Amino acid sequence: RKRVAVLISGRGSNMQALIEAAVDPSYPAEIVAVLSNRPDAGGLATAAAQGIGTAAVDHRGFASREAHEEALVAAIERFRPDIVCLAGYMRLLTADFTDRYAGRMINIHPSLLPLFPGLHTHERALDAGMRVHGCTVHFVTAGMDEGPIIAQAAIAIEAGDTPDQLATRLLAAEHRLYPHALALVATGAVRWVEGRAVLAEVGGVNAAAP
Ligand code: GAR
Repeated sequence: RKRVAVLISGRGSNMQALIEAAVDPSYPAEIVAVLSNRPDAGGLATAAAQGIGTAAVDHRGFASREAHEEALVAAIERFRPDIVCLAGYMRLLTADFTDRYAGRMINIHPSLLPLFPGLHTHERALDAGMRVHGCTVHFVTAGMDEGPIIAQAAIAIEAGDTPDQLATRLLAAEHRLYPHALALVATGAVRWVEGRAVLAEVGGVNAAAP
């Protein structure tokens, strides 16, 4: 099984979905560590309570983004992960960091990328008059929310939806999509080839997303 480190900044509900998927011994990845830039992130305590190694590298203790990332990399590497999953990790990353983990760092974003990179995605989807919304798991590159797409899931936008209602429904879809997408990468069904996400078998991969 591939060794996975999960990076979070908050409650860690997507982290928890990955942990729960990996409880099944036939799942192709195991969660070996959860790291956060916020020592008070709820997900750190949740992970520790399940016997998973945790580390906090507080960005406020560093003079620069580079210095923080250097300490973060050292903390990550102690767990020798094959794959790094960003799950609500809310720090911008330098190109040095994304290059180091190119092809083996993935992120979940709450929109159908390339629509709505950045923040407030639910509100922006509603304001745009979208009839569907969704989430994307992609390889991480230096451009924010720009990397090659691995898998997506869509949900319907209903009349009268508020951003909060939409976020809640989408979160349930995220919790199904992320374990699916991590499995695609861990098994090699989707691979990073020269900066593109390539499906090992043509067709069916995204269609099979739950
Ligand atoms: C999730 O909705 C995730 O897609 C989003 O933050 C939330 C984290 O929730 N990520 C981003 O917006 C990244 N650009 P969680 O901590 O409960 O998984």
